[in-house]
Amino acid sequence: MKRKTNIAIDGPAGAGKSTVAKMVAEQLSYLYIDTGAMYRALTYSALKSSIDPKDGRKLWELLDKISIRLKPTSSGTLVYVNDEEVTEEIRSSEVTNTVSIVASHEEVRIEMVKQQQKMAESGGTVMDGRDIGTHVLPHADVKVFLTASVEERAKRRHEENIQKGFPSDLDKLKEEIARRDELDSNREFAPLQQASDAVVIDSTHMSIPDVVENILHLVEERF
Ligand code: DC
Repeated sequence: MKRKTNIAIDGPAGAGKSTVAKMVAEQLSYLYIDTGAMYRALTYSALKSSIDPKDGRKLWELLDKISIRLKPTSSGTLVYVNDEEVTEEIRSSEVTNTVSIVASHEEVRIEMVKQQQKMAESGGTVMDGRDIGTHVLPHADVKVFLTASVEERAKRRHEENIQKGFPSDLDKLKEEIARRDELDSNREFAPLQQASDAVVIDSTHMSIPDVVENILHLVEERF
C-alpha cells in the first residue's frame, strides 16, 4: 500500500465494529479510534458532575473544559478524561444507558466531530462509530457499514457478559439494543445512517475473522 488512508466503520450497537476495527488496524499497523468511547467519556464525566444528559449546552461547556484522550497501548486503548483513566468506568450500564441521549445533541456532536477529524488528519486510522462515513470522514477511501440482527447482537453481548462473569439477561439485552438502535437512528442530528458509498457487511452469519478478511480485501482493492 502506497499511502496511508482512513477507514470508516459504522453500524449499530453490538455489530462487532470495535473488535473488527481493532483487528483491521492491527493488520495494517493503523491507529484504532473508538469514537463511541469519546461519547462515553463525556457521559461519564457528565454523570459525575451531575449534569443533566438532556442539557446540550451544559454538556458542550463540559466538553470544552475537559480533555478526552485515547491512548493506544499493547493491551488495548486506554481512555482518559483529563488525567483520570476511565477505560472500565465508561462501560458501566449507567453510562451505556445514558450515552445515546448525550450523543444526540448537535452542539456536542459538532465539537466531537472536530476532535475526531483532527485525530485522522494524517491518515492511517481505522475509526468506528455511527457517523464516520457520513460526517466525520466523508472522504474516507474505505467505508463499511457493519450490521447484524438484533437477536444476534444481543446473543453476542450475552455471551461476552457471561464470559466476563457479569450478570446478564438476554431478553433485557435485546430490549436495550433495540432501544439504542431506535435512539441512534432517529435522532435529529447526524443519525446512524449508512453512507451512500459504504459497503454493507451483514455479520449475522459471519465469523469475526471473515469480516476482517472482507474489509482487508476492500482496502486492497482500493489501492
Ligand atoms: O459504539 P458505542 O456503543 O460505544 O457508542 C456509544 C454511544 O455513542 C452509542 O449510543 C452511539 C453514540 N455514538 C455516536 O452517536 N456517534 C459515534 N460516532 C459513536 C458513538
